[in-house]
This record gives sequence, C-alpha cells and structure tokens, in this order.
Amino acid sequence: MSKPVILTGLRANNDLHIGNYFGGLLPLIDMAKNRADDYQVNLFVPDLHSFTTPIDHAKLQEQIRHNLRLYVAAGLPLNNSSVHIYRQSYVPAHSELTIILNCFTGMGQMGRMTQYKDKSERLGDEQISVGLFDYPVLMASDILLYGARYVPVGDDQTQHLEFARDIAERMNSKFQTELFAVPEPVKKQHEFFGNDQGLRIKDLVDPTKKMSKSDASGKGVIFLGDDPAVAAKKIMSATTDSVGTVRLDYENQPGISNLLQILALLTGRSLDEVAEEHDGQTEYGTFKKEVAEAVQAFLVDFQAKLQNVNEDELTEKIVASEAKMNEQANATLHRVQKAVGLR
Ligand code: TRP
Repeated sequence: MSKPVILTGLRANNDLHIGNYFGGLLPLIDMAKNRADDYQVNLFVPDLHSFTTPIDHAKLQEQIRHNLRLYVAAGLPLNNSSVHIYRQSYVPAHSELTIILNCFTGMGQMGRMTQYKDKSERLGDEQISVGLFDYPVLMASDILLYGARYVPVGDDQTQHLEFARDIAERMNSKFQTELFAVPEPVKKQHEFFGNDQGLRIKDLVDPTKKMSKSDASGKGVIFLGDDPAVAAKKIMSATTDSVGTVRLDYENQPGISNLLQILALLTGRSLDEVAEEHDGQTEYGTFKKEVAEAVQAFLVDFQAKLQNVNEDELTEKIVASEAKMNEQANATLHRVQKAVGLR
C-alpha cells in the first residue's frame, strides 16, 4: 500500500537567506524527519521553472546542486526510503504532462494568475515568455503526477495550488475516471502544516517589510552564504528605534522585535522566552552584539556542514530517487495518455 504524498519544490536560482531557512527549508526537513513513517515526502528542485524569467544560465547547474546540498546541510536524512529528492527535468513526465494539460487550460485562467500579472508587469513585452504564462500548468503537473495530497507552499503560490486542484477535478470529470488525486484545499493544507506562516523575518534595514532575496543592496538580508563576520556587521547596523528599551512590540519597535525573533530562531528557543529575558534592556548595542554573535556562530556552523556534505552519497540518493520518481510519474502519465487517446 502506498503512503499519502507530501510534496514541495524549492526554486534553485537564488541564494537563500535566513528567512527562507527558518520559514521554508527547516520546516520541510523536520517534516521529512518526522512524518516519513506515515507519508512519502517528495522534495524537488523545479529546475524547469528556473528560466521562466531570464537568468544567468552559466550559473544554473551549480545553483541546482547547491540547493540539493542545502537540503542535506539542513539535516535531510538521506537514508530514508520514503524521502525523495530529485530534479524536475530528470523526470520527463513533468514536461509531457504539461503539454497535455496545456490543451485543457484556458488562456483566460492563466492570464488572471496574480504571479503572472506581477512578474510580467516588471518585464518588457518581449521578455514575457510563454513559459512564464504556462508556469502554473507545469506546477500542476509536478503535483498531480505523484497524487500529492499535501503541498506546503507560501501565500504567493496558493493560487497555483488551487489551479492544480481545479484542473485535476476537471480532467477527472471530463474523462469520467479518477485520473488524478485532487490535492487538499488550501485551508486543509494550513491545518495540516500548522501555522509557521506567522513566521516572518523582516528586512534589517526596513523592518516593516519582509526579508527578501530580491533586496538590491543585500544590507538588510542575511544570506546563508554570507561571510559570517559581514553578517554580524549587518546585524550591528540593523535599523532600530528611539524608544531606548528592548521590548517585543511589532507595531512600535519592529526592528528590535525582528532581532528578538532572529535570536530566538538561531538559539532554538521560543520567542516569548527570549523576549522576556531581554525585556527592558536599555543598551541596544549590547543586545545587538548578542544577536550578531548568534548569527555569526550559526553561519560558521552551517557553512561547515555545507562543506562536509558527502557528494557521492548525495549523488547516489538523487539518482535513486529519480529512478523511483520516473516509475511513479510514468504510471500517472500513462493513465492520462490512455484517457486522451494517445495510447
Ligand atoms: N512555484 C513554487 C515557488 O515558486 C515552486 C514550485 C514549482 C512548486 N513546482 C512546485 C512548489 C510544485 C510546490 C509544488 O515557490
């Protein structure tokens, strides 16, 4: 009997920051560790999604490998046969199913996707690719090929998840057979994964906005690849306020509150505990120094783990996962091919 599938993709073409790490990567790894007895856990690099907007292709191959390495450095167990890590483009059924589903997808529906609208607004007309437009169909294929039930995604991806549900239901009803398992609705997803959604590390320079990879200066963002000493300096020059005492108060002291949150995550303690310990402290410099040291220690440790990833073991795991994934995905694809008359 096969286990229900939890699946998610982590995009390759950007260095991750501590917000991605604590808000995205770590919960995934914990899930792989804690739920693999009852679920099949699919973690993949959506490499075919990498150039829906323009990128530096000379770097992509290394970025893909780097992302896979990050999983391992963050603690992903490689010896668990219910955990799979793979590259989308190594399972050709993803592309094949996309081509088929394209013909059952309306132009209008894709044109209304918020992410498409946002991204295409920022690009010139000539730069908007058909691939960007078609992004949600490929993503639906990623999910439906494995009959994934649970798909942890950020708020910016819920519309795409809804689309995956929609096309699964439409195909099932059109062809009068259960071609696809329909993923759980977004609300159920949140119930299942709990609410670490609340976890939002803010930008260090402008603590009213989210820490984001696309920050141009990089001063407000701690990347996992940052030189630890440089990262410590970023903390020391983080924006605070003129209140003069440390307090957890997102409204009036967003910078200080953000640093408390960062300190809690880095030291593995609860936010309440850390906030209480520092409540009323009047020396911002001393407080910042503590956070800076924690950041530095975390990066030194993480980067050492990254260095020590066993490359052969990783390759072996990826190759084994991809073989298994091709089997599972091809079974679904074959059902679809038969239904539409290709087989
Ligand atoms: N679109 C997702 C993102 O930008 C990445 C992704 C691609 C994905 N395919 C997926 C996530 C399938 C979950 C399931 O973050």
